[in-house]
Amino acid sequence: MSFLTPEIRQRVEELRTLVQQASYAYYVLDNPTMEDTVYDRLYRELQQLETQYPELASSDSPTMRVGEKPATGFSSVQHKIPLYSLENAFNTEELQNWEKRWQRQLSSIEVAEYVCELKIDGSALALSYENGLLVRGATRGDGVAGEDITQNVRTIRSIPLKLQLDNCPSLVEVRGEAFLPLDVFQQINQERLAAQEQLFANPRNAAAGTLRQLNPQIVARRKLDFFAYTLHIPGQDNLSIACTQWEALELLQQMGFKVNPNRTLSATSKEVAQYYQRWDTERLNLPYMTDGVVVKLNSFSLQEQLGFTQKFPRWAVALKYAAEEAPTRVENIAVNVGRTGALTPLAQMRPVQLAGTTVSRATLHNADRIRELDIRIGDTVIVRKAGEIIPEVLRVLLELRPPDAQVFQMPQNCPVCNQPVVRTLGEAVTRCVNASCPAIVKGAIEHWVSRDALDINGMGEKLGHQLVDKGLVHSVADIYELTNQKLQTLERMGNKLAEKLIAAIALSKTKPYSRVLYGLGIRHVGSVNAQTLTQQFPTVEQLAQAEINEIAAVYGIGVEIAGSVHQWFRIEANQTLISRLQNLGLQLKAEIKETPTTSLTGKTFVITGTLPTLKREEAKELIEKTGAKVTDSVSKKTDYLVVGEEAGSKLAKAQKLGITCLEEAQLLELLNN
Ligand code: IVH
Repeated sequence: MSFLTPEIRQRVEELRTLVQQASYAYYVLDNPTMEDTVYDRLYRELQQLETQYPELASSDSPTMRVGEKPATGFSSVQHKIPLYSLENAFNTEELQNWEKRWQRQLSSIEVAEYVCELKIDGSALALSYENGLLVRGATRGDGVAGEDITQNVRTIRSIPLKLQLDNCPSLVEVRGEAFLPLDVFQQINQERLAAQEQLFANPRNAAAGTLRQLNPQIVARRKLDFFAYTLHIPGQDNLSIACTQWEALELLQQMGFKVNPNRTLSATSKEVAQYYQRWDTERLNLPYMTDGVVVKLNSFSLQEQLGFTQKFPRWAVALKYAAEEAPTRVENIAVNVGRTGALTPLAQMRPVQLAGTTVSRATLHNADRIRELDIRIGDTVIVRKAGEIIPEVLRVLLELRPPDAQVFQMPQNCPVCNQPVVRTLGEAVTRCVNASCPAIVKGAIEHWVSRDALDINGMGEKLGHQLVDKGLVHSVADIYELTNQKLQTLERMGNKLAEKLIAAIALSKTKPYSRVLYGLGIRHVGSVNAQTLTQQFPTVEQLAQAEINEIAAVYGIGVEIAGSVHQWFRIEANQTLISRLQNLGLQLKAEIKETPTTSLTGKTFVITGTLPTLKREEAKELIEKTGAKVTDSVSKKTDYLVVGEEAGSKLAKAQKLGITCLEEAQLLELLNN
């Protein structure tokens, strides 16, 4: 047990403020003020002190964002104030109708200002703060009751755990939209694609799905963000703090929330219409998805006079943008064979403009989906482009079906290798199971050489395909048996380029085991899972021999992943592949961090008191670099005691035992030698 001094208490407070300010600048203001390495140091120092002095624990500490334990489910919470939804308008005429309606309802028409905000396409959240501290985060649910997802909400860095407000009211309710930035959304889908998991259809689904994840560590990794748009102060007249929505937004910003900067005040519906038109195109440049504009009467007293219908506030309307959907004709249905052998039917359509791009192909997923849609070649369909992902067919316009529309049948044989395909009972996917099917080999190579896997520079998709088509490569192991001469048989491949490639291939042999494991393309093993697995099973033999329950016991690895890994290693062709890769010199065990042997290796140090320049963690790091150990208490086994200011009983004990005592300067000298 360490004794808690007022200095330590103060240092912890100071660290919390520093870390919190830096994190606010980074996540909310988007204006970093601190070097990453400095931030990491402060964060670690804080974490260490909090572990050492558990009595200092505090739920609003910046170290307390990500909970350790996965939830088993979410409990239901009643919203103190219901979450209403918004009436939709689809054009400026409907906006004017809405305006006339609210004006008619008031006895005297006043000059009313509107606040225009972007309608963020994510998932609504209700946050409750008690005495300035975040106590609850809940989903919208049906508007009256939602689910308590506080653990997950705490992982969203742009949501303050503590409000930056003096004299904070005892209760503050904040509403806003949690969303996934488009780049994060794409990255998640790429990872899911690589791990052969079902893709999220759009950022909204991805955000909603993430918020309902049981494991907060996964939520934290997904990098959700949040824009606040409503402030309620229950039991107190809102008007005394903010009289208008505009002021409320500014107050939210002062409290430490991220508020969308693209808001505006408009004096007339004509100005609202201009804002709406401007953002119809500009929103395509934003790093997040928007699906309209929310128009609210600015004055809270007008809002109060107008009140609510059963479902909507009368004082607000959502002015939506045209959905990114369009009709077009299906000219053919082709079948693509993926890296896993999955056969995916694709609709080839007459090109159509959607969300700023020309769309001519859409996935039809699988045979079940085709039957569900009842889609035939020649049909007119509605296609949708959601976010930035592959367009999909929403429905068929049956009334436009021509008499000669053709029913589509999934092929019985692989369209690439002509071997019979298989559809396992209970699965929607039809697969080619021929491991040497060129489509599967091409896919495997593409994945193997990709940036997060073995990162073989210069070996792109085209070259990979050529190598397979020429019969030079039948498996990823064959890449390592390519020679300059073999490579030069390819079109437009000179000596120089071939040399470069051979060097890049050789370099890939130094890539760590986790990347090799990821590169194998085992179902559900994305790069994060690969890292987790290699940490727990430091050699491929250990992983290959592990039973499902041993793999599933690893934190973050579920039964499904474990089953997939276990099954992969049971297949003989895969075992052969592993031993070939091993013989070829690829890394199939985790690197053991080597510490050099020095004259201090094996010695034991204890540090006591405050050192003049080094923090305790820093001193510890320096000592450990020599191969020596740092322990907490002085005993006969201690070789050196490093003494700082206000050294206590440890110094006395060391002196009694005759242990060498060093001041900081002496320590540094010893380490330098
Ligand atoms: S105001 C009573 N403002 O749109 C006020 N909602 O279709 C209701 N949304 O459930 C909400 N951006 O999830 C408001 N700036 C914004 C918004 C916004 C997105 C979402 C929200 C709501 C849905 C209504």
